[in-house]
Amino acid sequence: MFAVPANTIAAATVAPTVHPALIARAYATDRSRWAHLLRYDPDERFAALVDATAGQQVWLMSWLPGQQTDLHDHGAATGAFTVVSGTLTEHVRHRGTTHPLVPGQSRVFGPGYAHQVRNDGPDPAVSLHVYRAVRTMRAVSDGFGPLTADRPAELAG
Ligand SMILES: [Fe+2]
Repeated sequence: MFAVPANTIAAATVAPTVHPALIARAYATDRSRWAHLLRYDPDERFAALVDATAGQQVWLMSWLPGQQTDLHDHGAATGAFTVVSGTLTEHVRHRGTTHPLVPGQSRVFGPGYAHQVRNDGPDPAVSLHVYRAVRTMRAVSDGFGPLTADRPAELAG
């Protein structure tokens, strides 16, 4: 046995080492977690919150043929989504690329990632989306001078 230091932080509800795409896939394959929430809305893309913790949200979305998002980003959030059924098409603005997605495929996003997602297929589509808040960090001087481009703040945490 060993003593636990007084400033030890309890394990987070969402392990930060679990990639959001793995979480999206896990939810996608476990229909018992969201099947009761699934709806199709002829007027707009349907979305329902499946699960939420302090650092993460999981959303179920359904897309009738032709339904889409606007071009958008996710602020400072990171995340991923997985197609459960049907097909979706993702257009990534900064790369100018378009990705047709079939069931089981996932896409990952982070800050600065802007995309548009659309159901171009003939059938309804279902997808699971994970959004994770980004940990904010402050640069802290260690007595060896300010953090600079050679010592970016991202390395401070
Ligand atoms: Fe998005």
